[in-house]
Amino acid sequence: MIHARSHDELKALAADVIRLSRLLTRERESLPAAYLKDRGLREAYEAYYLPPNLVKIQALLRELAAHPGKLLDKDTLRVLDLGCGPGTAMLGVLEFFSAGKKRPRIEFTAVDHIAENLKMAGELVTKFKSTSDLDASLKTIRSTIEQAPHLPETAFDLIIFSNVLNEIFIHDEARIAKRTALVADLLNRFLADDGSCIIIEPALRETARDLLAVRNGLVDAGFPIYAPCLCHAACPALANPKDWCHEDIPWDPPELIQELDKLTKLRKDSLKFSYLIVRKDAKTLRDVHGEHVFRVVSEPLVSKGKIEFYICGEAGRKLITRQDKDETPGNDVFGRLRRGDVVGFENLIDEGRRYKISKETQVNRRTRT
Ligand SMILES: C[S@@+](CC[C@H](N)C(=O)[O-])C[C@H]1O[C@@H](n2cnc3c(N)ncnc32)[C@H](O)[C@@H]1O
Repeated sequence: MIHARSHDELKALAADVIRLSRLLTRERESLPAAYLKDRGLREAYEAYYLPPNLVKIQALLRELAAHPGKLLDKDTLRVLDLGCGPGTAMLGVLEFFSAGKKRPRIEFTAVDHIAENLKMAGELVTKFKSTSDLDASLKTIRSTIEQAPHLPETAFDLIIFSNVLNEIFIHDEARIAKRTALVADLLNRFLADDGSCIIIEPALRETARDLLAVRNGLVDAGFPIYAPCLCHAACPALANPKDWCHEDIPWDPPELIQELDKLTKLRKDSLKFSYLIVRKDAKTLRDVHGEHVFRVVSEPLVSKGKIEFYICGEAGRKLITRQDKDETPGNDVFGRLRRGDVVGFENLIDEGRRYKISKETQVNRRTRT
């Protein structure tokens, strides 16, 4: 549990955060399956990774809630959290609904292969419930996700894999095919016909590219992608081994994380992650934003006399350029676009390999969901 810490306790926590951060990034190759059995790493996870991760899931719930079909509008919401860790995603779901007008009863089922994680998840969910008037229940199941197909069959409205897919079959060369088959099997068995599956992964190049490959496999297996993709063909970012696709949302970290960042020289000042929202029906973000929209998939590329981005839409991923001399009130928002924005255009010039904004182009940034 988080409590006021002495300077020595904070330094010890910072050392564990560094140890955990290394394991989750450059030492991933040697990540032990049960690393969260280590108490120090577990505390580091709760202090440093849980707070940003529970905000990430809420951004994705907002993308679902924006759909005109009221996709989350249920009296009872059944949620399956696979690889729940300390309960991060469930806390995110609880925060999301407790801040909203529509408050379903939430029935959580949480799966993790480490008993200590399930215990911590149970404690944190109970603590949250005691401070809110949400009606929620939690059933914990100690199991690997690979064994989850043996769970009793229930139709879940939400299935969540938050930062766990990359840890399954991690050292296996056939990991993409195995992860795809596992996710497809779990969705076939456990996702309600009108349910949604949220997959969140770290924004590292390797894990994000692996997720894009799983995405292609799921599309081939007949699962439409709700978000983030506005391109329904094979993911264009996989064509170049240097490319990957990820989100980056501004975030004001809590004080403890700011202190840990100072001590560790790490940086958690924005929410970086890659994700997929998958459904069985054909509902997509296009139903929210219209057909001719694009996702901004890069930082602004600013050079002398122009500003450019990569955007991704039905025709794939292309560079879009606006020369400074062509800036007008109708397109000035272009210079303020950010990675992850959904954007539409009128009078856009398609030059084949890239798009060009002229003085006549109107740029419409959609509300960021
Ligand atoms: C990085 S943590 C993510 C925790 C939480 N979902 C979050 O987003 O903060 C990965 C979690 O998945 C669990 N895990 C990893 N591989 C698993 C497997 N094969 N079966 C079940 N749980 C697994 C770990 O024990 C750990 O709790």
